[in-house]
Amino acid sequence: MATTVQRPMQPDDLVNALPAVEPLFSRVAPSLPPVQFTGSVGSRYNMGGGQPDPDSLPRGRLVEITSELLAGEEGKAALMYGDASGYLGLREALTEKLRRWEHLEVTPEELLIVNGSNHGLALVVQAFVNPGDVALVEAPTFMGGLRPLRQLQARIEMVPLDDDGIQVDLLEQKVQALRDGGTPAKLLYTIPNFHNPAGVDLSLERRRRVVELAERFNFVVLEDDAYGELRFSGQPLPSLYGLARKGRVVRSATLSKILAAGLRVGYLTAPREVIARLNSLKLDGGASPFVGRVAATWLRSDHDAHVRRLVDLYRRKRDALVRGLEGGFVAGDALRPSWTLPAGGFFLWLRLPAGVDSLKVAEAASVRGVAYVSGSSFFADGSGADYIRLAWSMLSEEDLEQAGALIAESIHLGAA
Ligand SMILES: Cc1ncc(COP(=O)(O)O)c(C=O)c1O
Repeated sequence: MATTVQRPMQPDDLVNALPAVEPLFSRVAPSLPPVQFTGSVGSRYNMGGGQPDPDSLPRGRLVEITSELLAGEEGKAALMYGDASGYLGLREALTEKLRRWEHLEVTPEELLIVNGSNHGLALVVQAFVNPGDVALVEAPTFMGGLRPLRQLQARIEMVPLDDDGIQVDLLEQKVQALRDGGTPAKLLYTIPNFHNPAGVDLSLERRRRVVELAERFNFVVLEDDAYGELRFSGQPLPSLYGLARKGRVVRSATLSKILAAGLRVGYLTAPREVIARLNSLKLDGGASPFVGRVAATWLRSDHDAHVRRLVDLYRRKRDALVRGLEGGFVAGDALRPSWTLPAGGFFLWLRLPAGVDSLKVAEAASVRGVAYVSGSSFFADGSGADYIRLAWSMLSEEDLEQAGALIAESIHLGAA
């Protein structure tokens, strides 16, 4: 029997097996950089991440709810393993909220609790996409939707947005061409309410067209609604889920923006047959029974009043940012970026005018302590450097007004 002569162990080998383990990683494991959720925490004016306002978090209520839970009858169950679909009481509370806020009639069996909606998006992608399958995304879009598609080596095709959301005529042309070319689209990932990053709403007419195209060309729609409750003006529009036939749409939503991102509570809505498939892919032992109970109590007792307060808070923040920005440009200023005023959510999406160097703008902003995300993070092909995304969610109104003015100053410097 052949024996391999190994070099004697070096002192470092005793503590570090990483060089030997490196080639053992699977093909997908090392290929994507980790997501940074903390935003640019060191910056004086952090408009980077889509985090809720830290001062808006209902910490006092969570202390009360948590201690009552742990001391009460449910305390033990909260600390044991739970239902793989997520705590039933939370799914029941969510069905009531969906009825009241989204006019959706669903049963608890049509809900799956996940560890934040990022987790939900990844599960849905995993359930429908094989390597090489065509997936459609908006241009721009949220990286949390792009990441699982990239990880599963989907062929990602972009469809541009305008002020009314995804451009459905271009969507139709794209799906027709893909079908004609023998590579039909399988899935569309779309963010119909207060788009991240573009801030726009998908119009009702286009919602109907998206659903109709999904039927005609037989693709699944992954509807990501992370900000829908945070509407500052206008009437809520029906979800794609509500407009479509059963099974055509899987809807993803979250408590991250209205309760607390750190609790990691997201939920998928789909017919029970689809939920069963998604559940079988979900190998995490079930969402936290403890957090599920806390969230269920909060939803029943606090949700509506809290969301109303948030709507007012975030509307004022949006207005402060826009005020600061507007104030930095004189009438007819050729360097004024263009934007569409979002009717809700967290984000202002600026398009820099031609002749402005986005790297210079970023540098000037950084020197002034202002952080934001460059547009190229939101395009599947890495384009979009002439856009920037400002999140108004985290800063005070005063700071936002100041940050808006500093952005305007940085844009002027970017043109120099
Ligand atoms: C459009 C969109 N979808 C999903 C998420 C993910 O949220 P979470 O995983 O915290 O539920 C975010 C958060 O930034 C988002 O903006």
